[in-house]
Amino acid sequence: METYSIALIPGDGIGQDVTAAAWQVLEKVSAQSSFALKATTFPWSCAYYKETGAMMPSDGIATLRGFDAILLGAVGWPAEVPDSVSLHGLLLPIRKAFVQYANIRPHRLLPGVEGPLKARAFDILCIRENTEGEYSGAGGRVHQGTADEVAVETSIFTRTGVERILRFGFEQARARRGKLASVTKSNAQKYSMVFWDEITEQLAAEYPDVAVTSYHIDAMAARMVMAPESLDVVVASNLFGDILTDLGAAIQGGLGFAASANINPDRSAPSMFEPVHGSAPDIAHLDVANPIAAIWSAAMMLEHLGESAAGERIMAAIAAATSAGIGIVPGRDRTETITAAVLAALD
Ligand code: IPM
Ligand code: MN
Repeated sequence: METYSIALIPGDGIGQDVTAAAWQVLEKVSAQSSFALKATTFPWSCAYYKETGAMMPSDGIATLRGFDAILLGAVGWPAEVPDSVSLHGLLLPIRKAFVQYANIRPHRLLPGVEGPLKARAFDILCIRENTEGEYSGAGGRVHQGTADEVAVETSIFTRTGVERILRFGFEQARARRGKLASVTKSNAQKYSMVFWDEITEQLAAEYPDVAVTSYHIDAMAARMVMAPESLDVVVASNLFGDILTDLGAAIQGGLGFAASANINPDRSAPSMFEPVHGSAPDIAHLDVANPIAAIWSAAMMLEHLGESAAGERIMAAIAAATSAGIGIVPGRDRTETITAAVLAALD
């Protein structure tokens, strides 16, 4: 029997609540399947930082490398540790070190979920570049605290980085409805985004079966609200994808439904699965966080591990719960109630 070793990093705030829920679902579905899951839990978080002075030990990346996948809750406790420290000490280094260059975020309405738009029949797969671009972390500050202070933050776009994420987008489009929207801003950003557009065009020649359209980020933001059903796969740089996927979360009914997968497509290192919502310290441990985004992310993890049937069973169980009205109104149902409904639907 195949056994997958999973690194569980609950992290901060509601990350702990929702990973506990997702793990219960994973345990149940694995018990019903022909594979096993073995979790090793790591306490790396802002609380860990307060104790040790680091978000994870210096050999943290080396430790994680041995796992088949990582399931992460959330990182951040800004009242105690600045986000710029906590995120650059845990989440972002994992994405970069393990070359998880494709951040996959599905945006569609689960059955029973209203969402804020009139449009209901949309099914968007956002592919966000996850290792470079605007979040490369290259920059500096000089003359700090003086009137002459300067801050520089440089976006880095490499041919390797841009080509691989666009290619990933083309492949996803080919496997879905054959439509790719490439998000740009080459009217204003005349180096990086012109480069992005050129590579989009070069790859388009290799994928004659994919209909590709370039949209400026501002126009794409409007399109996701006004005509989301016109979109299939959307591929974007790190910053643009970050913003658009919160918009995607909003149109799918809220962050409680937004799942994500940080994928290393070459499988040279583990991939990481996490809900998009973050740690929400104000509602931590009150049993009110919606675990659906984390459970959906767990389903994406199983699919990545090659256990698609089990992943689909989890998605069907989520759909059964939301169809019955459980977990569809933000803040109404308890974490435990929603988790119990998903678990019951697995029977
Ligand atoms: C996300 C989050 C992170 C990101 C932050 C917390 C650094 O907003 O996963 O979308 O922008 O990557
Ligand atoms: Mn974000």
